Amino acid sequence: MEPELRPVHPVFGAELRGVDLRVAPTPELVDRIDRAMDQYAVLVIRGQDIDDDQQLAFARAFGRLEPTPAVVDGNKRRLKHGEMVDISNLEVDGSIIAADDRRRMFNLGNLLWHSDSSFKATPAKYSMLHARVVPPEGGQTEYADMRAAWDALPEDMQKRLEPLVCDHSLIYSRALLGFDAFNEAELKDFAPVPQRLVRRHPGSGRRSLFLSSHIGTIHGWPRPEAMALIRDLTEHATGPAFTYRHEWRAGDLVIWDNRCTMHRARPFDDRRYRRDLRRLTLEDSAPSLQQAA
Ligand code: OGA
Ligand code: MN
Repeated sequence: MEPELRPVHPVFGAELRGVDLRVAPTPELVDRIDRAMDQYAVLVIRGQDIDDDQQLAFARAFGRLEPTPAVVDGNKRRLKHGEMVDISNLEVDGSIIAADDRRRMFNLGNLLWHSDSSFKATPAKYSMLHARVVPPEGGQTEYADMRAAWDALPEDMQKRLEPLVCDHSLIYSRALLGFDAFNEAELKDFAPVPQRLVRRHPGSGRRSLFLSSHIGTIHGWPRPEAMALIRDLTEHATGPAFTYRHEWRAGDLVIWDNRCTMHRARPFDDRRYRRDLRRLTLEDSAPSLQQAA
């Protein structure tokens, strides 16, 4: 069957049908997906019964993976591949994680709108998230189109934003939820990094807001003034005109471009139901400040 694309939202996102990710992708398929990503920024591929090795082989065909996820208590690992990010509420032994566990508190940060790894000097390009077990209700993921959000801003606002540089850190996003239980090593690891607020998306040539809950300040601005602006922009950029909500089914793989989208998890009864999703993350080519704007 020839692969086929169907838009899932008026401004971004598409479902790709007619592909089987159990077999390693051909260069033609990789190219086709890259081009679809340049246009749609979020791709949904349903019904993929793949294991960790197959998910890894698929992701590797698109470029360099982020070597290690930024987590707390990384010594307690459930998954065998070091690159794979455990997006679940599960303990190493597969039981549901304790309600007061530090990892649960830390993971709740995914409920805030963000771009993956914007807190790393070189942030993420694509994320590829595969659903193994999904809860009967809740636990959706929402996506927001930062190119459409940029296009909709008045020109004088665009001019004001263009030169701005923000500092991003996991410490800032977790502080928004009142989490500050970082140890010395984590505080050092998660030190803020600078990123442009406005980027050019290379594959489409379009400009994009680079927002994330990891933002903690704008260079040269008083913090309250910076955070008030970031909050306002985030509110604008995550309105219904720019957002798609994905209702997960087991076997779904969703690929998103972190350079031009944000996403957030929606809550579910995580003390009662299991949710097991696994993510691989492609690294971007350079820090945003070193890329053409
Ligand atoms: C992620 C993420 C949201 C979710 O995998 O990067 O933020 O709904 N996931 O689990
Ligand atoms: Mn994420």
